[in-house]
Amino acid sequence: MDQQKKNEIFEHAKAWVLEAGERIKSNIDSPRSIETKSNPNDLVTEMDQETEQFFAKKINETYPDHYLLGEEGFGDEIEDHGGTVWIVDPIDGTMNFVHQKRNFAISVGVYYDGVGEIGLIYNVMEGTLYTAKRGEGAYKNEEKLPRLDEKRPLSQSILALNTSWLIPENPHVDHKGMEDLVKKLRSTRSYGSAALEFAFVAEGLLDGYLTMTLMPWDYAAGSVIVREVGGIVTRADREELDLLNKTTVLASRSNIHEEISKDYVRLKK
Ligand code: IPD
Ligand code: CA
Ligand code: CA
Repeated sequence: MDQQKKNEIFEHAKAWVLEAGERIKSNIDSPRSIETKSNPNDLVTEMDQETEQFFAKKINETYPDHYLLGEEGFGDEIEDHGGTVWIVDPIDGTMNFVHQKRNFAISVGVYYDGVGEIGLIYNVMEGTLYTAKRGEGAYKNEEKLPRLDEKRPLSQSILALNTSWLIPENPHVDHKGMEDLVKKLRSTRSYGSAALEFAFVAEGLLDGYLTMTLMPWDYAAGSVIVREVGGIVTRADREELDLLNKTTVLASRSNIHEEISKDYVRLKK
């Protein structure tokens, strides 16, 4: 992607993320209409939908030749990642948005021919914006984030992990390997927003994030940001991420990535 174009897209994306964040923040105490999607715990509100519509309108007006892959279905039907694709999760952490009115984020990734060029994650209620452009490092607001070069052993690492993967019947991963991993780690955390979990890995608050069921809009921005500080982001089996379908994800400091994947994660399929 041409540098000047990339800078221009970044500035637009940043302005729209901040504007969308303001709208969410100023409506945080308004009555919510809450619906469920694929299961009773998969929530969506009118604010998720309105925010995605806001991005769809801005992108269509400004860049009619770009595509939008969005969680709430106001974007395009995408079959491949040719051209410029905006991958948007209007509210990541909707359960937190509904139950806690905090700990949720807007996540926007811009990809060109399948390569993540720009990532923005906005922790709306905290007012913290994480950004990255490929090859230019990552930032928390205006501050450049240091690289994750320290080699920290698993025994001193904190991993974001959902307790679901420790349930024996879970369909994705052998729970015994997960138990061994939890015993080996210093500790685990679950924030309930994949985007924030990526941002916290990039910031060094977490040493890694392991999950079994993410969609492209959950990790599109986060993977750009984590890679810019030297972290590794792949599927849990270390294969490349599939930008069109549900996938496992392991994002972490480089020195623990292979060990987690090879010694602990035994995928069921
Ligand atoms: C969810 C959150 C959650 C993760 C789920 C996602 P949503 O996104 O990121 O932390 O565990 O897999 O679907 O539905 O709140 O946008
Ligand atoms: Ca999400
Ligand atoms: Ca969402």
